[in-house]
Amino acid sequence: MSVSIDDFRAAMSRWTSGITVITVRHDDVTHGMVASSFAGVSTDPVTVLFCADHATRTYPLLKKSGAFVVNILAEDQAETFRVFAGQKGERDASKFEGEEVITAATGAPILAKSLAWFDCHIVAEHPGGNTHSIFVGEVVASDLGAGADHPPLVYFRRKVRRLELDDD
Ligand SMILES: Cc1cc2nc3c(=O)[nH]c(=O)nc-3n(C[C@H](O)[C@H](O)[C@H](O)COP(=O)(O)O)c2cc1C
Repeated sequence: MSVSIDDFRAAMSRWTSGITVITVRHDDVTHGMVASSFAGVSTDPVTVLFCADHATRTYPLLKKSGAFVVNILAEDQAETFRVFAGQKGERDASKFEGEEVITAATGAPILAKSLAWFDCHIVAEHPGGNTHSIFVGEVVASDLGAGADHPPLVYFRRKVRRLELDDD
């Protein structure tokens, strides 16, 4: 029995996730994309993973650079979300326009206003079906960002949402 893609997407839309931007640098090219497939993997060594579609422009840069930064977005970064998800075509050529950026040890750009970030060397690339790769990164540095105390940007039912933190 096979599942229809529409049914799969509808069911996945009921999964609530945070929003990350995966950023890369290769030579003098910086780029990045929104990814919700981020997860922590292990603490020995400290590793994380995310899945990348081979059709994205970020994918070949990941392969060439061997490194990436995971930036966890805060609720006031909804515009950053739209740009890095490719929903704002006119700014696509330079997704970092207007962004405050710090260069990580691997050379990849950190989005300074994020909740937190992880600077990673790629240690494994596993197949994810015919279209995606699962990248495992060893974390060489991580820290809270300037937005660390802000609520997160979350994604649910195909929209970004704000999370009410009622214990603050
Ligand atoms: C909520 C959300 C989550 C996404 N998660 C992923 C993901 O985990 N992996 C991925 O390859 N693309 C993901 N995408 C799609 C990419 O962000 C999108 O294709 C982007 O335009 C790729 O940019 P690029 O081609 O400039 O690299 C997601 C998009 C949205 C809106």
